[in-house]
Amino acid sequence: HKTRTRPVFGAGDKQADWMVIGEAPGADEDRQGEPFVGRAGQLLTSMLAAIGLPRSVVYILNMLKCRPPNNRDPLVEEVTQCRGYLEQQIELVQPRLILVVGRIAAQNLLQTTLPLGQLRDRVHHLPSLNIPVVVTYHPAYLLRKPIDKRKAWQDLQLARQLSKQW
Ligand code: URA
Repeated sequence: HKTRTRPVFGAGDKQADWMVIGEAPGADEDRQGEPFVGRAGQLLTSMLAAIGLPRSVVYILNMLKCRPPNNRDPLVEEVTQCRGYLEQQIELVQPRLILVVGRIAAQNLLQTTLPLGQLRDRVHHLPSLNIPVVVTYHPAYLLRKPIDKRKAWQDLQLARQLSKQW
């Protein structure tokens, strides 16, 4: 926390059916204290809109609550430090579905070392709770590699299908 400007806990509907989990705040989020407000955040907002979800109906948060210096990958001890917050957020919101964006958040949440390509396009369940989890690419990655937006679209459709069973 020493190098952060503001903590970024989460934003959105605290009774949301959908929860979106990212990795860690970036520079814009660190300044504003809100998750996914920079360029990647704008793409995330469009991705959600594409499946009919305004940002206001989902709850968005990150695994880490503070921006790592220079946007480096989170350290294991940082993930461990923030894990309690994340678990409480999941418990309090009680989402019906979790969409995880990016390899780092997915591997940490699901406690696996599998690459993202093997985690996406299927339904996982959180080890402790019976909440379905769908993994897709991080919007910051999609900005660099738009060709993979097609696969992200498939993942969003999968999540959408699950929500139709409610
Ligand atoms: N990337 C993330 O993973 N989270 C944010 O809040 C912003 C960018």
